[in-house]
Amino acid sequence: MAEPSGAGDSIPLECPGLDTAAGEEFLQEVFQILLEEGVRKSTDVTQKVCEWKEPQELQDLLDLELRSDGEGRERLLQRCRDVLRFSVRTGTPRFFNQLFSGLDHHVLAGRFLTETLNTSPCTYEVAPVLVLMEEQVLAKLRELVGWSPLKGSEPLFVCATSGTTVLGAFDPLDAIADVCARHGLWLHVDAAWGGSALLSPRLRHLLAGIHRADSVTWNPHKLLMVGLQCSAFLLRDSSGLLQRCHGVGASYLFQRDKFYDVSLDTGDKSPQCGRRADGLKLWILWKAVGTRGLAQRVERAFAASRYLLEQVKRREGFQLVMEPEFINLCFWFIPPSLWGQENSPQFWDKLGMMAPAIKEKMIRRGSMMVGYQPQGSHVNFFRQIITNPAVTRQDLDFFLDEIQELGWDL
Ligand SMILES: Cc1ncc(COP(=O)(O)O)c(C=O)c1O
Repeated sequence: MAEPSGAGDSIPLECPGLDTAAGEEFLQEVFQILLEEGVRKSTDVTQKVCEWKEPQELQDLLDLELRSDGEGRERLLQRCRDVLRFSVRTGTPRFFNQLFSGLDHHVLAGRFLTETLNTSPCTYEVAPVLVLMEEQVLAKLRELVGWSPLKGSEPLFVCATSGTTVLGAFDPLDAIADVCARHGLWLHVDAAWGGSALLSPRLRHLLAGIHRADSVTWNPHKLLMVGLQCSAFLLRDSSGLLQRCHGVGASYLFQRDKFYDVSLDTGDKSPQCGRRADGLKLWILWKAVGTRGLAQRVERAFAASRYLLEQVKRREGFQLVMEPEFINLCFWFIPPSLWGQENSPQFWDKLGMMAPAIKEKMIRRGSMMVGYQPQGSHVNFFRQIITNPAVTRQDLDFFLDEIQELGWDL
C-alpha cells in the first residue's frame, strides 16, 4: 500500500473496502454455530457444563496469538466453535451459579488483550474501565506542575490525548512523559480515538512515546469499527494494582483457593462484577483480517479524509477550520448570502447558525448525518469523521454536494 500521508489518493476509494455479501454469508454461518453450540448445547442437560482445559492448554487450543495476515473463513468459523465449546455452559440446568446468565469468556478476553497489546517491553493488564480526559498543552503542564504546590496541592496525574474528539489532535507524548518522569507523575493517555493509528506503520508516529505511559485507554469500537462496545484500559503496572484498587475480596464471588492460577481471573480486578466479553469481538476481527487488515482500515479512513480535504479546499463555500492532523476534518460551509461579509460584525454569529440549519435539513430529508459543534472562539463547524470502510469516493462527493445543496440558499 502506498503512502497515505500524501494526497490520499494512493488508496483506491472507488469501491467499498468491505465485501458485504461474504460478510453476510459468514454471519449466517456464525448464527448457525451460535444456535448449535451456544443455545442448543448450552442448554442441553446431557452436555458437560465445562470442557475443562489447563490455561496453557487452552491458550494453545484457541491459538490466541495475533498475526499480520488474516485467516480464511473455515478457520474463523472453527474458532467461533472452539470459543463456544470451551466456554462455561451457563445456560445448562446443571450450571448452579445462577447469579448471572450468558456465556463466560472472562479468561479468554483477559488473556487476549494482555497478549496483543504487550508489544512494548512493559506488561499491561486489562480492566473494563474508561478514564475520560481533556487535552493538555505542554507549556500549560509545566506551568501547572510548578504552580500547584503554591496552592497547597500536589500534582499527581497527567492526562494526555492521542486523537482529540473534535480536532483529532495528538499531544506530544514524549515531551509530556519527560515532564511526568521529572516530577514523578502518573501519565495516562486517552487514545480512545487515535490509539488505532498505532496499527498503521505510516501513522503510528503520531503516538510516539506512548510506550512511556502508565496507563492508556483505547476504543477499538471507534476507528476499527468493532461492534459497540469494545474499550480497553491498558495498565503498565504488574504489581496487582487493579486487584488492590478494585478487589473487594468477596470470597463468596471470587475464590482465591482454586485449583488453577487465579491471577488469570479478571473478575476481582474490575469495578464491575457482571460484564460482557467485549474483547472477543476484537479478537475475532483481528484473526479475520490480521494486523495488516486493521492497518488498512485506519489508512483507508485517513485516505478518505485526505480526499475530502482536497475537495473542501477546492469547492466554493467551504472553509477549513484548520489543517487536519488526523482523520477529523473540520470546516464551515459559507452560503453565498454571507460571501463578502467576512469583516462585518454579524458574520460569525450568522455563520454559527448555518451548521445547525443544514443539519436540520439533512435530518428532515434523512439523507445523511454529520456532527457539528463550536469550539473555543470558533462558531459551529462541521466535523467529518470517516471510519466505515464501505464509504467510497462517490459517498464523499455526495456528502459535499448535499451540504452545498442544503446550505446554498440559507
Ligand atoms: C478522545 C475521546 N476519549 C474518550 C471518549 C469516550 O468514548 P466512549 O464513550 O465511546 O468510550 C471519546 C468519545 O468520543 C473520545 O473522543
